[in-house]
Amino acid sequence: MSKYRVLIVGNGGREHALAWKLVQSPELERLYVAPGNAGTAMWNVPISVQDIAGLVEFALKEKIDLTVVGPEDPLSLGIVDAFQKVGLRIFGPTQAAAQLEGSKSFAKTMMESAKIPTAEWQVFEDPAKAREFIHAIGVPCVLKADGLAAGKGVIVAMDMDTALQGVDEIMDGNFGSAGKTLLIEEFLEGQEVSLLCFSDGITALPMVPVQDHKRALDGDLGLNTGGMGTYSPPPIWTTELEETVMRDHVFPTLQVMRERGNPFTGVLFLGLMLTKRGPKLLEYNVRFGDPETQVVMKKLKSDLLPILWACTEQTLSKVQLEWKEEVAVCVVMAAQGYPLAYTKGVPIRLPVERDLDTVIFHAGTGISEGQLLSTGGRVLGITAEGKSIQQAREKAYALVDIIDFPKAHFRRDIGVKGLEI
Ligand code: AMP
Ligand code: GLY
Repeated sequence: MSKYRVLIVGNGGREHALAWKLVQSPELERLYVAPGNAGTAMWNVPISVQDIAGLVEFALKEKIDLTVVGPEDPLSLGIVDAFQKVGLRIFGPTQAAAQLEGSKSFAKTMMESAKIPTAEWQVFEDPAKAREFIHAIGVPCVLKADGLAAGKGVIVAMDMDTALQGVDEIMDGNFGSAGKTLLIEEFLEGQEVSLLCFSDGITALPMVPVQDHKRALDGDLGLNTGGMGTYSPPPIWTTELEETVMRDHVFPTLQVMRERGNPFTGVLFLGLMLTKRGPKLLEYNVRFGDPETQVVMKKLKSDLLPILWACTEQTLSKVQLEWKEEVAVCVVMAAQGYPLAYTKGVPIRLPVERDLDTVIFHAGTGISEGQLLSTGGRVLGITAEGKSIQQAREKAYALVDIIDFPKAHFRRDIGVKGLEI
């Protein structure tokens, strides 16, 4: 390979983690992040993730060799199609393939065609019919808005009142067009694992398994969030499970997508529930997870750039991924109030000296007059590696404790799930 000019699209912790890893590549000539955050300041260009025409123009002008897309929004808007149309190389699924995340009913239909183990489900456009169905199946059950709802369109109803009110909450316009169609699903019990796979449309290579902590509070209590922390690998995961999931979930998905004329290239991210009756697929995401990527990049030994490149060339079968033995933990520091209305503009001071096994990934941060400020809900991802979950947790929390971020909200129990096994 010669030297490459790479553009990352996004501004979260995931994109900082990708940037951190890509700048270690000997194949990299120059990196840009659009629009980025304070952690990626030296590579930032001020183009928003939704400004697809602006991103195309920039990539043409700067002779970008490879663009990597972080968030789902631009993928659902067709950024990959727009880049490919003008001959630009880009890592991610096309608009049609991105429907695996953009439409839950599309995802469920694909799972059904590919015979992938998942929760039983029904789709409704009429609230009265939905309520009738809930009475018939009883609780617990799970209600989901069909379209993209920033992770907030899911209600896990443990009692009848919540389930019936949930129908109105989702269908009464709170979620706009995303809530016009409602899915009602069987409630599944078990531990959740995120499995991200690189895919070139035919070959898929699994990354290390990750456990996310989606609820806002310790003990998996409180509201659902984008993710409050991750660790990898979870001890509940086994090589046998990985073989089962690749055989029964990942490869059938790629095959069905190919057969439908929408081969899937990019990161296929499976949200799995490990039930007593085997792994069941809760959902697909069509991109790197956040904060999954922070621990995955910390554990990846191989150079990321050639892997992404191979996905765009259909040569992934020639690639072998190498991972560090160490456990990685990422603790998200969020703004006070997150995931509801939260404070912005809080000044943050980071320690100058720290353990070399730790990285501070920025998410919602910016710089104003030389001062680091919080600008979003999830603000920092404090990531550490250690010989054990316990050691990685100790290193991560030791750093969390010396970060000067007034009234930051974070969980104290990231990774504890893995200690209990
Ligand atoms: P999703 O956006 O589909 O990942 O749903 C968000 C969260 O809701 C998941 O991470 C699970 O914790 C929970 N969830 C979704 N579907 C189910 C289900 N069928 N049974 C139990 N919990 C679920
Ligand atoms: N952490 C879950 C997600 O990225 O959707």
